[in-house]
Amino acid sequence: MKKISIAAFVLAPIVMWVITPAAATPDSALSYSADVETMVVKRCAGCHNTEDPKAKLLLEKGLAYEQLVGRASVQVPDLQIVVPGDPSTSYLWHKIDFTAEVGKGMPRTLFGSKRLPEEEVDLIRRWIEDGALP
Ligand code: HEC
Repeated sequence: MKKISIAAFVLAPIVMWVITPAAATPDSALSYSADVETMVVKRCAGCHNTEDPKAKLLLEKGLAYEQLVGRASVQVPDLQIVVPGDPSTSYLWHKIDFTAEVGKGMPRTLFGSKRLPEEEVDLIRRWIEDGALP
């Protein structure tokens, strides 16, 4: 009995110390492949694909990251499509937030454009803010 309680007394803090950091870590940074790609493929690859890439932008599975990060916009060549850490200078953000001055907001539809649900708009913004990781 005594042995058990001593063991618990000694081990409990160690166990807590090992478990706690993982449990207490704030949400880790978003990454394209884990958090964003599925949504982009579903919402965007219908038009931005190799068959007929609208605005020369390919957003199919496995292709989009290099297309989005470190590449200038064709519509506003002064802007990068994604500037890691900074939505306000990322042309992608302006298209998603419907603040782009050229063309329409994204995604377009047959008759214009329809803003993404706010949680998806927010996901893009947070991914860019987190450093636009692959
Ligand atoms: C129905 C077709 C369609 C869909 C769906 C669509 N786009 Fe587009 N996209 C276009 C067209 C057409 C253009 C060029 C004209 C414009 O900007 O309105 C364009 C332009 C763009 C540009 C500008 C590229 C540049 O280099 O300047 C970006 C960025 C973009 N789209 C991102 C997206 C994203 C992200 C999605 C999904 C959320 C999406 N698009 C969904 C048709 C589409």
